[in-house]
Amino acid sequence: MGAMLSEGWCVAKSDGSSTIACPLHALEFDQTGSTVLLGSNKATKSLLKPLELIIQGDLIWSYGGVEPKMPIPNVLNEFAAKYEFAGVAGECSVKTDLLSMLLNMHDYNHQNGTHRPLFEIERIDFKRFIDQRLHSHSYYDMPRAQPKWQDLLKNPALLEMPKVIRAHLENYFPAIVIFHGEAPIGTIKQCHIFVPEFETHTRTYVLAYGRFKNPVFRLLKNNVLKFAATVVEQDADILGKLYADSPQHIKLNNEVGMDWVRRNFANFSEMTNSRS
Ligand SMILES: [Fe+2]
Repeated sequence: MGAMLSEGWCVAKSDGSSTIACPLHALEFDQTGSTVLLGSNKATKSLLKPLELIIQGDLIWSYGGVEPKMPIPNVLNEFAAKYEFAGVAGECSVKTDLLSMLLNMHDYNHQNGTHRPLFEIERIDFKRFIDQRLHSHSYYDMPRAQPKWQDLLKNPALLEMPKVIRAHLENYFPAIVIFHGEAPIGTIKQCHIFVPEFETHTRTYVLAYGRFKNPVFRLLKNNVLKFAATVVEQDADILGKLYADSPQHIKLNNEVGMDWVRRNFANFSEMTNSRS
């Protein structure tokens, strides 16, 4: 019925094997993908295909049974080796197609609209964009308004935010956007992952890594995760409120990241085929 097995659980069997249980009806599937029928030894037809996994360092990847078009980036493995894993934040399915999701993520002008309630960003000072085909870097500064007392009481983590957020985004088209952050508490790497689920839904989550300047600051890593979760919530909220198929009427300054997304999206197969 289309339930996600990743939301289910594993059941250890007395013979040492294990099954995976579906979260909807608790139906169990064995290693061949066959349903285990309670009170019966009858084998069913295999309903699931095993997923081919690639284990690279601390991370497990999969092409989901689709022919690989590009290599797995090594950047997350580098983070896993160098930084402390702070956790996963904001995992959700957003009611939007992958292109809209990516355009939002690479729209530097949306920070002081969509994320205004969180960061009180006053404006975006765009610095530069480095286009390396399917890989890119963008740099911009976001000066913030002084938080009001009532905001600080509501969210004391605002005190940890610098006066000017210096953003460096590193982008691996299409699935990964990394926010390289320097905060008073230390270095933060926020890795936003985008997985198309259906034409109209995109799954997203954030893997957060950090190096904290002081062991006490490690206690603040939950705040880092809370911020990341709020960012995802705000993006999901605004994406759910956009009219579908509404053409863009106004071109803003510094849409170079969005142009990069549109070009790569339109030419993805040629760009991956001609890769040397
Ligand atoms: Fe956003």
